[in-house]
Amino acid sequence: MKGKFISLEGGEGSGKTTAIAYIQQWLESNNIAYLMTREPGGTPLSEQIRELILTPRKEPVNNTTELLLVFAARAQHIAEKIQPALNQGLWVISDRFIDSSYVYQGKARNGDIQVLNQLTQWVVGENKPDATLVLDVPVEIGQQRVIERQHQDRLDKESTAFHQKVRDGFLERADAEPNRVKIIDASLSLEAVQQQIETQLNALKHAWSDSEGGA
Ligand code: TMP
Repeated sequence: MKGKFISLEGGEGSGKTTAIAYIQQWLESNNIAYLMTREPGGTPLSEQIRELILTPRKEPVNNTTELLLVFAARAQHIAEKIQPALNQGLWVISDRFIDSSYVYQGKARNGDIQVLNQLTQWVVGENKPDATLVLDVPVEIGQQRVIERQHQDRLDKESTAFHQKVRDGFLERADAEPNRVKIIDASLSLEAVQQQIETQLNALKHAWSDSEGGA
């Protein structure tokens, strides 16, 4: 039986790293075999492309270049890692996936949505996430957390207006596909955030085991 695919999304400083650790704990305590991965990245080649995308540089990065690099990394990631894992029946959890492209390269960079749709159809095809959790925090909170970090990448350094578009973009994704994309209020306490994640994961597990005739 094919595995389930969950992506985790959110703006900078939304607490994805902590959420991932919690999701991992939940999977282990539920005895679910899984693969944890991330985008851009996830394979050696895709991780090299990640470096290309995120390294701050003097040369301006063209929006089309950025978009194609993100999708090049994704094509490799799907073929070499995600698809094989799903075929083995593993749950795949990806720290970011396709919604980030719609939000960063689409909404925030003003990318052509039709181009994004075509690339998605071509590169992602059937490998869309079954569920997506979006960690939502006001931009000021996210940016404050990022400022406190030692290392800031090329996209962390974008303007507040850019990060506001990112936040709005994720909220719009949830509005457009409410069955797949669930918003987690990540401005609350750690316990309250974990509680929301646990509620969503339990609901997904039950829904999926029901649809497969019970497990
Ligand atoms: P993060 O994993 O530390 O959040 O950093 C990844 C960065 O890459 C983040 O700024 C969002 C960006 N990104 C895109 O712009 N488009 C994409 O499709 C993906 C997956 C990530």
